[in-house]
Amino acid sequence: MKKHFILFLFLFTSRLALAQTYNSLWIPDTLSGTNFTLTAVDTFKQMIPGNQTITAAYNGNWMGPTLIWQKGSTINMTVHNKLQDSTTIHWHGMHLPAVMDGGPHQIIPPNTTWSPYWKITNNAGTYWYHPHLHMEAQKQLESGLAGMIIIRDSIESSLKLPRTYGVDDIPLALTDRKFTSSNQINSAPYGDSMMVNGVLRPQFTVPAQWVRFRILDAAIERSYNLGFNDGRSFYMISSDGGLLDSPVAVKKYFISAGERVEILVNFSHQKGSSVDLMAYNSTLAQSEPGGDAFPNGPFENYLQRKDFTILHLNVTDSNSNSISSIPTKLTTNIFPDVASAVLTRSLSISDSSDRPGAPPKFIINHKFFDYNYYNYSVPLNNTEIWEISSTSNFSHPFHIHDVEFHILSIDGGTAPPQLQGWKDVVYVKSKQKVSFIARFADYADSLHPFMYHCHIALHEDEGMMGQFLVENEKTGINNISYPKPNFSLFPNPANNKLMINFDHEPIDVYYITITDILGRTYFMLPKPRFENGIDISTLKPGNYFLNLTDNSNKQTYTRSFVKQ
Ligand code: C2O
Ligand code: CU
Ligand code: CU
Repeated sequence: MKKHFILFLFLFTSRLALAQTYNSLWIPDTLSGTNFTLTAVDTFKQMIPGNQTITAAYNGNWMGPTLIWQKGSTINMTVHNKLQDSTTIHWHGMHLPAVMDGGPHQIIPPNTTWSPYWKITNNAGTYWYHPHLHMEAQKQLESGLAGMIIIRDSIESSLKLPRTYGVDDIPLALTDRKFTSSNQINSAPYGDSMMVNGVLRPQFTVPAQWVRFRILDAAIERSYNLGFNDGRSFYMISSDGGLLDSPVAVKKYFISAGERVEILVNFSHQKGSSVDLMAYNSTLAQSEPGGDAFPNGPFENYLQRKDFTILHLNVTDSNSNSISSIPTKLTTNIFPDVASAVLTRSLSISDSSDRPGAPPKFIINHKFFDYNYYNYSVPLNNTEIWEISSTSNFSHPFHIHDVEFHILSIDGGTAPPQLQGWKDVVYVKSKQKVSFIARFADYADSLHPFMYHCHIALHEDEGMMGQFLVENEKTGINNISYPKPNFSLFPNPANNKLMINFDHEPIDVYYITITDILGRTYFMLPKPRFENGIDISTLKPGNYFLNLTDNSNKQTYTRSFVKQ
């Protein structure tokens, strides 16, 4: 009897101890300005007591720094790939030239530096970056490669909103993972353990005031039906592409893979209390990512169709720059007028199976992704309606690159106010029809496409993706024969800077790469600006090639040079 009692006491107290051990939420560092360097590395992290976990990250050992960009400025990214594998880095939500987008066509081989740049035209909001290598998206995301982006602009800055990063403006990247008994990441669409910013069982201390959370669903597959365990209301202020017209009070918000939402939560006068941010996923259907429950197999997981804690919050003293009320009006979004749409594209989502009896794979327009096939050509400056009809038995977050869109209808009705802002991911429920309107402005490119796909990384990797070119007839490839550009490199041999000398008019350069005799790529320079020369100081001495692609005819011309 006594023995049993002691055993009971031991089990009881150890359970209690386990339930109370939280880890402090990690807040990624920020980088701001106009020049940014991200280095993708294979690394490891102490995630669980015992063995460290093999991870990959940008500049650190999980995710990457939060990048802070100012609308209107031109930013220069330097991306070094120090991974064992090729990768890409996609700026999710950004409106930018396709060649800078970081989709599956902008592959960065190992030990190569990619230098995209563009002018920030997106609204203030929360965006993110992540790898997008075809068929490797899940694996690379799983290893920890992802990061958050905050864009600021004058409209958002003029509002009285919490914006002290890490204090009352908190980035929360939600995902989940499975771990092996030796603490390694077990590749799977769903994890057994919830994580925020890579931290298991996280807790965070918030001041007793209005706090803003920038929530990203960075999961491989899962959606989270967000809410608080005391049933409180919170205020949605921003969707994927920026501020809503006015805050929208909700008690729950369903976020699916790839989506972002900014919410305001009032902790005023709650010092000393605790509240949990929850996923109320017990209410999800079998057809929803996170609601699909399986007794075994690759999709079985501990968190399936149940309610669980995402983040434990402890409320402490307020700080001096707290706001006492929230604005009732945020911005005035002007969406493209339906009358201005020149066409409606009808897309379908359906289930397919490779082999009879095999689990379904999901496809868009009855066709698996084909890397070399461009599904659509969108004329530059088109305003279009995209109508997505699903016959799938499962629900899919549909994402499109290049544009932010406005949802016109969900199953024939108008979208609820929280989905009435700018979006780049729309959740298309099983058997639903959704339409949105978007304008494809500014950037035409007849070589590099933009993607649209399901943001469930597993589905994307399996081919639930398509691509489109934005094309300008005037600058597309045509039959005019252009003179061969004449150029030479100097000095040659070169030391730190390599200059290009055009014999006649400087030509419009589309791309420059620097390779060696073995075909290894060292630099990828889309639309390079080389007035001051190309910095080759990091190259080892030897023989190299500079490959220059002319924008007018997309031909590539090669010159050799020696690095001293
Ligand atoms: Cu966030 Cu094409 O992806
Ligand atoms: Cu994207
Ligand atoms: Cu999907």
